Amino acid sequence: MCGIVGYTGSRQCCPILLKGLQRLEYRGYDSAGLAIADESRIEVVKEAGKIQVLAAKLKDHPPKGTTGIGHTRWATHGSPSFENAHPHFDCSETIIVVHNGIIENAETLRVQLLNEGHQFKSETDTEVLAHLIESCREKEDSTLEAAVANALRLVEGTYGLAVMSVLDPHVIVGARKGSPLIVGLGRGEHFLASDVSAILEHTRDAIYLGEGELVVLTPDNYRLFNLQEKALVKEVEHITWELDEIETGGYTHYMEKEIFEQPNSVAMALRRRIDPRRGEVYLDGLNLDEDELKKIRRITLTGCGTSWHAALIGEYLIEQCARISVDVDYASELRYRKPVLGPHDVVIGISQSGETADTLAAMREARALGSRILAICNVVGSTIAREADGGIYIHAGPEIGVASTKAFTGQVTVLSLLAILLGRSNGTMSHERATHLLKELNRVPELMAETLAGSARLMDLASSFGNEHNALYLGRGINFPVALEGALKLKEISYIHAEGYPAAEMKHGPIALIDEKMPVIFLATRGPGMDKILSNMSEVRARKGRILAVVTEGDELLVGQADQIFSIPDCDPLITPLLSIVPLQLLAYYVAVLRGCDVDQPRNLAKSVTVE
Ligand code: M6R
Repeated sequence: MCGIVGYTGSRQCCPILLKGLQRLEYRGYDSAGLAIADESRIEVVKEAGKIQVLAAKLKDHPPKGTTGIGHTRWATHGSPSFENAHPHFDCSETIIVVHNGIIENAETLRVQLLNEGHQFKSETDTEVLAHLIESCREKEDSTLEAAVANALRLVEGTYGLAVMSVLDPHVIVGARKGSPLIVGLGRGEHFLASDVSAILEHTRDAIYLGEGELVVLTPDNYRLFNLQEKALVKEVEHITWELDEIETGGYTHYMEKEIFEQPNSVAMALRRRIDPRRGEVYLDGLNLDEDELKKIRRITLTGCGTSWHAALIGEYLIEQCARISVDVDYASELRYRKPVLGPHDVVIGISQSGETADTLAAMREARALGSRILAICNVVGSTIAREADGGIYIHAGPEIGVASTKAFTGQVTVLSLLAILLGRSNGTMSHERATHLLKELNRVPELMAETLAGSARLMDLASSFGNEHNALYLGRGINFPVALEGALKLKEISYIHAEGYPAAEMKHGPIALIDEKMPVIFLATRGPGMDKILSNMSEVRARKGRILAVVTEGDELLVGQADQIFSIPDCDPLITPLLSIVPLQLLAYYVAVLRGCDVDQPRNLAKSVTVE
């Protein structure tokens, strides 16, 4: 949700900032801009629309200078217009700011600043920050960093911030509360960025700013301190992601690449964590000993969007494998409904990015109530991962397409491992069953590759969806959350209205929608409840609904029951979601491509939702 990049060094920074913004564009793509300082002035170039519009504007006249900041925006305060695009100046065009987050008391501060005589050009909360820093600097006659710290002490809300001043043309001040910001360390140059993808090609040494922490960067130095202006020393961390992981690598879209990467990403989630022969799972990052694992009686899984769907599958897995009661809650709801949680509860936040504001807030609420908080994350070093008592990384590699795909299967994979570990620890799962399930999990990369080999068939099936306005996804048991996830994929990237339901719920309402214009996608794979699914299919057929069924290989007798079928390899029903989601991801992808949609950057969305 908004991307920030900054550079100070000896190189011309315009191309560095622009490339950084392109890498961060998945965080927001309503408008973009940059500010570059030379010895006497700061030049700002910004545009509404995507970064390619900004790039075209910069092509012939790139601003000169070796220190600058850039921003790509996902609008919160004010429309995605030129005026509201970042960076934002103060009155005297001395101080300039880019910001990610929301300043909650912006309107109060704006009125105070207007009374002091400040004049505003935009509707943004970010411009309020620029004037506030100007006001603090004038009143205190302080350094830029002291003025930023003073201003931030008056602010309520969240920020990842980069500030420059024409009076200090080789200095960038960064600050963070609630929105991620990292410092990249180079030789004779320093970087600031919302995430590592913006700086990966320049350095792998990074410092993650914590809550309420600030940094002053010059080409040769960096200094960390907190809002009370106390100096800090922090560990330098090494980034392990490879550059080719953040490129499309021959695929047309990141989403397509990420769907096809799943055999490998699932293998990475399993790597060094299982011993199928012994029926054992190793998840050291949980930081729970045998005794603590054994004593777990209740688990709450929480997350948003796709991660919430993974949590629903986790509920089936943990209840089936370990007979532990599991609640699943949207993070945004958990946080505000006074949850009944305490020291005996384990709360697991699931998040690809590890930065989702609602999930973070729910986990903090659970911690405040005394629960142990764990995380299932993809991004190493993310805020959620850092704040948790322990957790499991899914190791899926960077996920850049806004529609989550490989993170989902990574989350389901590690939830399966957790379920087996808990079941073995508390004695509810037999050695034989654990061995069988682990062997099945070990086959998933191969089975996924087989499923993906059917992509041409899905491309074909997609052609009959291109002009649809609605779709219904139905599944039972562990396939119900897969139906939800399939519907989310279709709606977010193709803008076709789609709903997921437990198949049995259809007759309690949605059946009213069924006619020859309503495509219904059934998850009809082998397993418990199959006979009931067949009845539900008959109910749809009787009302002339068009059926596409995802079935298990060998169940092709279902041909007569559905208009179209797609087969996935046979596996244990508990493992099925890892395969049954694949055709739904591909279907959504091909439908979106056919409709000419911007697959990786669907309208109004952003990859990492760092506002509540
Ligand atoms: O990074 P997170 O997993 O916390 O993100 C949660 C949701 O914002 C995310 O899954 C969103 O729903 C995706 N667009 C789904 O494809």
